[in-house]
Amino acid sequence: MINIKKEFIKLDTNNTTYIIGVTTTNHLSQIYYGDKITIDDDISFLKEKWFYPHGFGVTYDQSVDPGISLDYISLEYPSVGKGDFREAALVISSVDGYTFDFKFDSAKLIDDYKLEGLPTPLKADQNLLVTLKDDIAKVKLELIYSVYEKSDVITRTTRLINESNKEIKIHNIASMSLDMVDEGYELLNYNGGWITEMHQSVKNLEPGIYVNDSKNGTSSNKHNPFFMLKEKNRSLNDGKCFGFNLVYSGNHKEVIEVNTYHRIRVQSGINSYCFEETLLENETFETPVAVLTFSSKGQNGVSQNMHHFTNNYIVRGKWANKERPVLLNNWEATYFNFNEAKILSLAKKAKEVGIELFVLDDGWFGDRNNDDRALGDWEVNLKKLPHDLKGLADKINKMGLMFGLWFEPEMISENSRCYEAHPEYAIKCPNRKPSLGRNQLVMDLTKVEVQDYIISFLTKILSSANIEYVKWDMNRNLTDIYDSSLNHGSFYHRYVKGLYRVLEEVTSKFPDILFESCSGGGNRTDLGMMCYMPQNWASDDTDGFERMLIQSGVSAAYPLSTIGAHVSTSPSHQLLRRTPIDTRFNVAMFGVLGYELDLGKLSKVEKQIVKDQIAFYKEHRRLLQYGTFYQLKSIYNNNQMIWMVLSEDKKEGIYGFYQAIASARPGIDVLRTVDVLNDELYHIEVRPQKIDIKTFGELLNRITPVNINSEGILVHAISRRMAMNSEKEVYDVYGNVLNAGGIRLKNQWAGTGWDQDTVRLLGDFGSRVYYFKVK
Ligand code: DGJ
Repeated sequence: MINIKKEFIKLDTNNTTYIIGVTTTNHLSQIYYGDKITIDDDISFLKEKWFYPHGFGVTYDQSVDPGISLDYISLEYPSVGKGDFREAALVISSVDGYTFDFKFDSAKLIDDYKLEGLPTPLKADQNLLVTLKDDIAKVKLELIYSVYEKSDVITRTTRLINESNKEIKIHNIASMSLDMVDEGYELLNYNGGWITEMHQSVKNLEPGIYVNDSKNGTSSNKHNPFFMLKEKNRSLNDGKCFGFNLVYSGNHKEVIEVNTYHRIRVQSGINSYCFEETLLENETFETPVAVLTFSSKGQNGVSQNMHHFTNNYIVRGKWANKERPVLLNNWEATYFNFNEAKILSLAKKAKEVGIELFVLDDGWFGDRNNDDRALGDWEVNLKKLPHDLKGLADKINKMGLMFGLWFEPEMISENSRCYEAHPEYAIKCPNRKPSLGRNQLVMDLTKVEVQDYIISFLTKILSSANIEYVKWDMNRNLTDIYDSSLNHGSFYHRYVKGLYRVLEEVTSKFPDILFESCSGGGNRTDLGMMCYMPQNWASDDTDGFERMLIQSGVSAAYPLSTIGAHVSTSPSHQLLRRTPIDTRFNVAMFGVLGYELDLGKLSKVEKQIVKDQIAFYKEHRRLLQYGTFYQLKSIYNNNQMIWMVLSEDKKEGIYGFYQAIASARPGIDVLRTVDVLNDELYHIEVRPQKIDIKTFGELLNRITPVNINSEGILVHAISRRMAMNSEKEVYDVYGNVLNAGGIRLKNQWAGTGWDQDTVRLLGDFGSRVYYFKVK
């Protein structure tokens, strides 16, 4: 609900309020953002009171208000030159210099808006357009606010319009800027790299500037555009918490500045790195959309708001809010080394265990038997797949599976026919040897002919067979930037816009296909891509433990329905670490489940385990992909982690309990919900798992009649055929017990005494899953 009053504008979502007003100097000011509040016409109590300037403060205009210096009031969209020495949201210049002074002009509700060439979230409950003008320079700023009531989200975007006849250079243009009083916040942001994406880090905010950004050309696996500001020393479920994200897939910049007057300024938008746009008379520049949310229910509250927003206003089309299929991807099973027979045998085994979608990964086109060639040559390798994609897809469909295919459309190998014919398709500087990343170059998507080439080969291939899923990969960052029209400062941004044009066309032509975005895992995990692709491959790292760290970070920002999560082999290819097959599943099930291993190599026991996992996942898929997600114990500062999903009506839910290293003096493990369950009787039960007899090592000899070699063939053979059952644990318990005291679970193994019913045998990287439902 947006209320435009004489003195201020109030934007309300279900649980939050955002207020902007105008200073005595006619600048747009930020008045309040936080829990929902009730006010009438008077907001004097919320307004900042300045009667005298600070020493050294530059008074904006003594004749109007001697107390106002722009340096210490809370502004809504600051620019340069009139005494605000903090980071400016807008840095522009003309022949007249850098000084621009935007004053409030008008505010009105608008029906809807759609950005030109940039993804826009779906229709909001209401939209507000605030116009600011610099009458001297004849430059206009339009700030658009959209209210998503149920998500508790407000989005912001900015338009700059040059109404003068002087050329304007844009050096920095944030999508949003927010000034707040510093009430003691810490910054949570999500950092990493390849195979280690989205690790949360927590920083105390001190005076100074912190920048979270990407210069990769993509939103990057180094620093995701999502971040939170959270009241210090609060739990995961309480305390004031602000969350921010950006609907953009390129270089981004988030600024968090604490100034010397105890103000925090937060900004988010396109990175100003290597960025410069020119605006001629009557030209407009639009920024990507920034997403803001607030919750007094801590980090989980913010994550849940972001999840609701993404599921309902970012992901669109046929797959929005729809359950996603369980897939098998052949990459880690075969890498480039496969043929039709091998693929069909993997698919057959996939069907046997209950998988629904088979995905053929890299290596099916040109002479792509290695990663140093053939990108750009998008024709089927008939030596590997003699019946073409259609022949293969038909056979896979006949087995009762959907068929999906991998592409890396934005890339070109020097060693390809495409490059031989069109070296100009690659991004490179004249007279310089371009640097390779994973042996490849990036196609210049600023060029319309390159965009058209990509659209045309994708259209051809996607029409050639029944392809129901596409994995869209992107395996290197942008370097050697050069624009043939010499517009170098806008190159990165035009690359992203070129990509969006391609995505818009391809996804509109093939509206039924389920797209999964991937950039060597999570190098482009962002809301921009999610406007086209409902799923995102979270990481190339499928190690059970590393995935706990990665998915904890990803799920802080993005909903479980978007997180591609696969069970692969152990030791993992990435860390060579061994983790139990049930832990790999118990982590992957809090996402869109897939498998990525040679099912033919599984033992009889493992095959049954996988069957049971998939059956469990399918039974609870809605809950696991769309339930309300809680992190109850964080792996970032604990040896253990607890996740929970809850149905909207709170009638059922699932806990995931995980640990890193087993302890020789285990404590009491408690399953306790936060204050969310109804006061009804719930039945709670652990999901049965299998315990490999090899777990016991030489201790086996304590129960066998004859001495056996625990590493020998006999034990190995038995372990492939049979396993022991994990403990049973079943309770009937009221919701208020789970909310308050919680369930004290059976003790973990502590070196003495064991039987199947009394001891939870988890071990290193062990885990359990508990399902509960109102009786
Ligand atoms: C990187 C992806 O993240 C992997 O899953 C796989 O598709 C490879 N590329 C294929 O080259």
